[in-house]
Amino acid sequence: MQDESIPIGYVRSNAAEPAAPQLVELSLKRANRHGLIAGATGTGKTVTLQALAESFSSHGVPVFLCDVKGDVSGISQAGKSHPKITERFSAMGLPGDAWRGNPTQFWDVYGKAGHPVRATVSDMGPLLLARLLNLNETQEGILTIAFAVADDQGLLLLDLQDLRAILQHVAGQASELRTLYGNVSAASVGAIQRRLLSLERSGARHFFGEPMLDLTDFLRRDDTGRGFVNVLVADQLYQEPAVYATVLLWLLSELFENLPEIGDPEKPVLVLFFDEAHLMFKNAPRALIDKVEQVVRLIRSKGVGVYFITQSPADLPDSVLAQLANRFQHALRAYTPREQKAVRVAAETFRSNPSFSVTEAIGELGVGEALVSTLQRNGAPSMVERTFIKPPVSRIGPATKAERAAVIAASPCLGVYEQTVDRNSAFEMLQQRAGEAAREAAGHRQSPARTLKKPVPRARGRQRQGLMEAFAKSMLRSLGSRAGRSLARGVLGSLFKGR
Ligand SMILES: Nc1ncnc2c1ncn2[C@@H]1O[C@H](COP(=O)(O)OP(=O)(O)OP(=O)(O)O)[C@@H](O)[C@H]1O
Ligand SMILES: [Mg+2]
Repeated sequence: MQDESIPIGYVRSNAAEPAAPQLVELSLKRANRHGLIAGATGTGKTVTLQALAESFSSHGVPVFLCDVKGDVSGISQAGKSHPKITERFSAMGLPGDAWRGNPTQFWDVYGKAGHPVRATVSDMGPLLLARLLNLNETQEGILTIAFAVADDQGLLLLDLQDLRAILQHVAGQASELRTLYGNVSAASVGAIQRRLLSLERSGARHFFGEPMLDLTDFLRRDDTGRGFVNVLVADQLYQEPAVYATVLLWLLSELFENLPEIGDPEKPVLVLFFDEAHLMFKNAPRALIDKVEQVVRLIRSKGVGVYFITQSPADLPDSVLAQLANRFQHALRAYTPREQKAVRVAAETFRSNPSFSVTEAIGELGVGEALVSTLQRNGAPSMVERTFIKPPVSRIGPATKAERAAVIAASPCLGVYEQTVDRNSAFEMLQQRAGEAAREAAGHRQSPARTLKKPVPRARGRQRQGLMEAFAKSMLRSLGSRAGRSLARGVLGSLFKGR
């Protein structure tokens, strides 16, 4: 079978009379081996991302990307002729008039400029929440207990109101819960509640609740077989770096947990582009970085390619960097010792090319030019090439408000997420219990039997996975004596939701 690949650009030639340009391509079969787009500001990272994303789309691969500056929304619109762009197309033997937009869905955590993206508190899990709330170890422990109590008592944790209610409940029952779950100090609960309040004020409350994002909505194709480009509108979200980072980590873990194992597919199931990726790791505890590293490593056999976009490769942990096989390095400055080190790090990651010095080239690259090395079908990295990146056929720059509105109005997801649903969950159930208890105390004998242990279905069934169970069990062993029964069940639940 012919190996399908997407065009990246063509090699810059030093010959006076260049022959036919040498094309640089990315094998679709190897696109799930992840990638990195790096370079100083204004060097062309976003345009490279856009060109890659639309090529994936036209090969039937759906894409998810973050639009941090609002300048990728033009991917939904047709581009227009520009001498520099047309020159690159003709050098690659491509038609100069093939302008078209891509099937696009806009998503927005704040629910304004796209379909709302939501997760339930229970799906986010204590580990990511603790990071989001910037909790210390003791506070994280209490959050974990609150999740375990909710699990054991059949209380659904959907939105922040539920989380607040369960924390209050746990604090109120501290002495009864101590033997089973451990110590819960009122002061720590108070500290968590205060953090929750400021999180709510930051606008994150929009993110928690139902209907939760159904990941299959990210995997759509249009009726001509092109993959949808899912744009996370992140200009406002990016102003809250912790929320932004948590949303991306949550998304990664959701995909990891829900997609089936398929090995190396002929082309990816989905490709993710995480812009400003350094934020995902900033101030992250070692344990979390280790988990991200693990998820990135394992998710490729679910057919998902993850492409990180950041200024310098040195912004990412080595363990993650080592897994990014498809490299696009735009220009870097090297004035300060720190910048010089970043250039060395960047250069070291490439398979060298005898015809030029990578370290020198990194400083000389023009806008829209990058050092590119991709993973070949035989599994070896290609020799690094100084590459003129193929510009997108969609518009470089933003879509107008009216254009966005038209895209949203035509989206297959319109109407699915727009209305929030407030199900009976921890907040309502605890209120109801309090009411019943009060009536009982007042001697109303007709009050129904307490429904404390009644099992309640979870927000969404989760398939426990063999691999994850194995990992969780080993983690459990390492947790040793600290692990009570409830903790054990929770740890098996999920990699990120280590409760
Ligand atoms: N491959 C390309 N073909 C044509 N023009 C390009 C190409 N790449 C970049 N440009 C031009 O350079 C400008 C800046 O590129 P881009 O926005 O991608 O930079 P960036 O690296 O993402 O910067 P920042 O870090 O500030 O986000 C674009 O608006 C476009 O005009
Ligand atoms: Mg950019």
